[in-house]
Amino acid sequence: MDFKTLKQECLTCTRCPLCETRKNVVFGTGAEDAEVLFIGEAPGQNEDEQGLPFVGRSGALLDSYLHTIDLDREKNIYIANTIKCRPPQNRDPQPAEREACLPWLREQFRLIRPKIIVCLGRIAAQQIIRPDFQVTKEHGQFIEKDGVLFMGTFHPAALLRNPNNKPIAFDDFAALREKIKEVCDHTY
Ligand code: URA
Repeated sequence: MDFKTLKQECLTCTRCPLCETRKNVVFGTGAEDAEVLFIGEAPGQNEDEQGLPFVGRSGALLDSYLHTIDLDREKNIYIANTIKCRPPQNRDPQPAEREACLPWLREQFRLIRPKIIVCLGRIAAQQIIRPDFQVTKEHGQFIEKDGVLFMGTFHPAALLRNPNNKPIAFDDFAALREKIKEVCDHTY
């Protein structure tokens, strides 16, 4: 299946009950040949309204970090979430919702073939890297699995709530920049 068909099918997904409350499916955005894939948790209200990931305040913070290391969602990265529809009242995604939604992300991963995956926050890191991943202890470390490098860092919304962690998160992005130089061919 190609990217266009995958997106078309995903936009009409009814695999879990979130399809009844969503306004828009938030499929993901960015370069379809990105070497770096960012994965967040789930769409919030703004994302649900616009059908795009990270468009609220946390998205603005994410973009500012990305730009400091010459990454840009329009040009050289891809951004998606662990689930594609907003959970009511922004509650954590439930296991059944995550399981129902994961095949979409898997297929995006298969088509994009990123070299590096950055998980934004605990929910993404625990789903994608390891169920007991601890962001506060393991952020910024690159873990190799089947030829792909995985890194977990703070969720931008958590940084808005606790700005004390901003410098540490910034260091993670600096480490990402170095890793991109080491392993990526065309990201800059
Ligand atoms: N938080 C997320 O995890 N993802 C979004 O797309 C927006 C906010």
